[in-house]
Formats: sequence, C-alpha cells, structure tokens
Amino acid sequence: MCKTDVLIIGSGIAALQAARILGQHFHVQLVTKSSVVTSSSYRAQGGIAAVTTQIDDINYHIHDTMLAGEYHHTSNVETLIKDGAQLIDTLLQQGLPVDRYANGEPILGLEGAHSHHRILHAGGDQTGKYFIHYLLERLPVTVTINDYEMVYELLFNKNGDCIGALTRGKQGTKCYLAHHIVIASGGAGALYNCTSNFSTNTGDGIALAYMAGAAISDMEFMQFHPTLLWCNGEAKGLISEAVRGAGAIFVDAARQPTMKGLDLAPRHITAHTLFVKRLAGEETFLDISMIEKFEEKFPSITKLCADNGISLQDGLIPVAPGSHFLMGGIVADSSGQTSIPSLYAVGEVACTGVHGANRLASNSLLEAITFGQRMAQTIIQKGLHQQNFMIEQSNSDIVMPHLFTKEQLQQKMMKALGIVRNHSSLQEFLQQMPSLQTLLSANRDSLPCEQIELSMMHIVAILMAKAALTRTETRGAHIRTDYPFTDTKWTKRWIVFSQGQMEV
Ligand code: SIN
Repeated sequence: MCKTDVLIIGSGIAALQAARILGQHFHVQLVTKSSVVTSSSYRAQGGIAAVTTQIDDINYHIHDTMLAGEYHHTSNVETLIKDGAQLIDTLLQQGLPVDRYANGEPILGLEGAHSHHRILHAGGDQTGKYFIHYLLERLPVTVTINDYEMVYELLFNKNGDCIGALTRGKQGTKCYLAHHIVIASGGAGALYNCTSNFSTNTGDGIALAYMAGAAISDMEFMQFHPTLLWCNGEAKGLISEAVRGAGAIFVDAARQPTMKGLDLAPRHITAHTLFVKRLAGEETFLDISMIEKFEEKFPSITKLCADNGISLQDGLIPVAPGSHFLMGGIVADSSGQTSIPSLYAVGEVACTGVHGANRLASNSLLEAITFGQRMAQTIIQKGLHQQNFMIEQSNSDIVMPHLFTKEQLQQKMMKALGIVRNHSSLQEFLQQMPSLQTLLSANRDSLPCEQIELSMMHIVAILMAKAALTRTETRGAHIRTDYPFTDTKWTKRWIVFSQGQMEV
C-alpha cells in the first residue's frame, strides 16, 4: 500500500507539468504504463501554438481554433488561448527551449488552418522531446516516477470519492491511495493499425473513468493526420504539418499538385482527400524540394525517412493518413475536474471542448501545459481534504468475455471507424463486439496486463462506435458517407456516456 497526496497516471506534458507544480507543495506518485518518454507529447514534432507577437492576436487564435473545430464547443477556448499565451510568455522568460533567429526572436512556424505564423518549436521538429526533458529536469524530489506500471482499476470510498488506484508492474500488484487522482494517460490512436501514436496509446484512462461512471463525451471524433510516412504498405511515423508550413505540397506519382492550393486546409479535409485518392489507387507524396536545408530544419523526419530506406534526394516523401488525436474523452473543465469528486483528467484523455470536432494543429501541447498548470493550482487550493480512505470493495465472479486480438481489433476499427463511417459498418462492428456490460463487470484481478489492456481497448472502441452510429451527420473529423452533410439539428449536441448510459 502506498499512501500519497496526489497520484498522477501518465507521463506526457500534461502529467509532468502538473507534477512539476504539485511537487512544490505535495508528495506526488506518478505511474506510467511504459517508459517516461513513451508518450504522444514526446513525439510531438510541429510544436506549440501560442500568440507571442504583435502581428498576431488572441482573437485570431480563438477564431482559428473554433473554425477548425466547427464550433462544436465554444467553452474553454478563450481560457486556453488567453491563459496559454500568458503562460508561454512566462515559460519563454524562464528558459523554455525554442528555436530562435540570430537576434533571439523565436522562429514561428505555420500549420494547417492557422491564419498566422504562431507555432513555436524546438530542435527543429523535436519539440515534444525538448519540452519533456525540460519538465523532467525541473521535477521536485517530492515526485516519484513509477514506470512500466499499468493502472487497472480506480478505487473509491463509500461517498463516491476517488481515493486511489490498483496497478500492475515490476513489483506485482500495488495499491495507491491519494487525496487527488489525476488521469493524464493520453489518447487512443493505437486502436487503429495505421497511427502516429505509440502502441501504448490504448485509451486506458477513458476506459477506467467510464468503468467508474464518469462522464465521457465526443468519442466519435478521432482526428486522422494526413501525413504519416507510408512505406511498404505500413505507416511508419509522423511527417509534421510544419513541413507543409515550410512550403511542401501534396503531389501525385507524376509530381502534379493534388490539393489545388489547399495543402494547409484543416486536417479532416486533407486526410479525407488523401483517403479518397488512395481508394482510387492513387499514391500521394509530399514534394519537399523547395525547402532549403530540410535536414537541418527537420532532423527527426530526416532520420525517420533514412531509417525506413526513403531517400530525400528526389524531394518526395510517400504519405498516407492515420489516426492521430482523439478530441473526445473524459469530460473535464479547464481545471481538469471531472464528474467524479477528486478525479481529474487533463491532456488528450480529457474532453474539455477546446478542440471541438477537429483539433487545430499544435493546440494540444498548449492545452497540456496550460490546463496541466490550472489543474495543479486548483488541487493546491483544495488542499489535502480527504478523511475517508476506506475502500468500497467491488467483487465480481464474471469471467472476461472472448476478446479480439489487438491486431484484429485495430483492423476492424480501421474498417468501421476509420476516416469515413456508415450505419451498416458501425452496426456490424458493434454486433461483433462483446457486451459492454460484461466487459465492465468482468473480474480483472487475475488477468495479465495484456488482457486488461485489450479489454479496455474493447470498451473504448464500443464507446466510439456507439457515438459514431448515433451522430447521423458529418461534422469535423466524424465523416459519415450516409449522412455527408453537417446537420443543424446536431449543432451543439454532445453524445455523453454517464453512469454507463448514453445521453444526447
Ligand atoms: C504535426 O506536427 O503535424 C502534429 C502537430 C499536432 O498534431 O498538433
């Protein structure tokens, strides 16, 4: 049994930013399923979007964010953009590493659907890696990192307050008790076989919260990134949108431009266009020949291509779309508070609404660092209030139903819940899946970690399919071939799972 002040699940930028601040006041135990550098944050190439110049304006950034998100939500956007700009200004003064011109001014990149150059980056295309190390180096000694440890159940007292979690890891099963529990475990891109995510991004945090009865929303909105490196029929990693921001364009095999100048359109548009071309048997490439000093500007992409035998000599990179970022997740406010007392969610695992139906590029690191700080400040204000650490036991003798293998599930997801969806493929998918009720109540105590992870992937997949089936329109990243237009009857309507029930 490990009793602490705050338990943080995850190790991306949201988790580390919160740990850095909370650790100045409290003891923090951070638990992460893999190594501390295995996160989508770590892989982030493009950078962090923030208003840092006089030419740009907070209102432009707010407008770009809502337009890309198709005004699906409008709450919390202003808080993110305003607080984010202030925080980035402070962090830049404190030495956050970003690429700068010789005169010291930060270099600002451009990405899809941004009206202004406002993307700060570090190490060329290694922003996430630089930021993670910046935060790790500043963690107080009060923060303990427990890596290769997977949370498989949240714990509650009889009042319904979240008071801890059970984990499996190097030291077997462990029980953590804490005053505040933070889920910052990232998204669910690895539910698909073609993804920019690490294979560990399996949506565990969402499944844990759902099992506990927390509100979960917007699960139909999975963003597909248009440019994953495509090699021998497989996606091999991300080719940042910043490459197009630096001038690259989409071309076909004959080197003809294919996007009619809309190379930096919002991601759901570019990804969908590439998908349709691929169905018609057309390959797509990024023509990077006009970018001077490509290797210097994009060192990790250069290495990714070299590692996969792609020569940059002729200036062409083969690309295809793949799953990238889940806009939906655990319903949380801009301070991370969920519908369950003492349970917080921050970063990609959370659904705060700021990304609407389709996230604006490079707003995710801004959300992680800004809402990670806001959440930490909220917890500090609340203090260590929990009096009742008596665990409410929940025993079950229900056996886990038959599960698909990870590969089978990923293939099914790509087919039924990929870039386009329709009623019959979603319904067929749901008919093949085990019952959600049995998945929820099955006993996990004696299962190996792989089976627990797989069961959580099944839960998340079912939530995504149910929401996608229910939303009979096309909006943002949710593209229904049988309902190809946005329908005003769905405007500002959110599909929420709460206490196990779906509400619209
Ligand atoms: C990219 O560099 O293209 C990804 C950035 C993001 O998803 O925000």
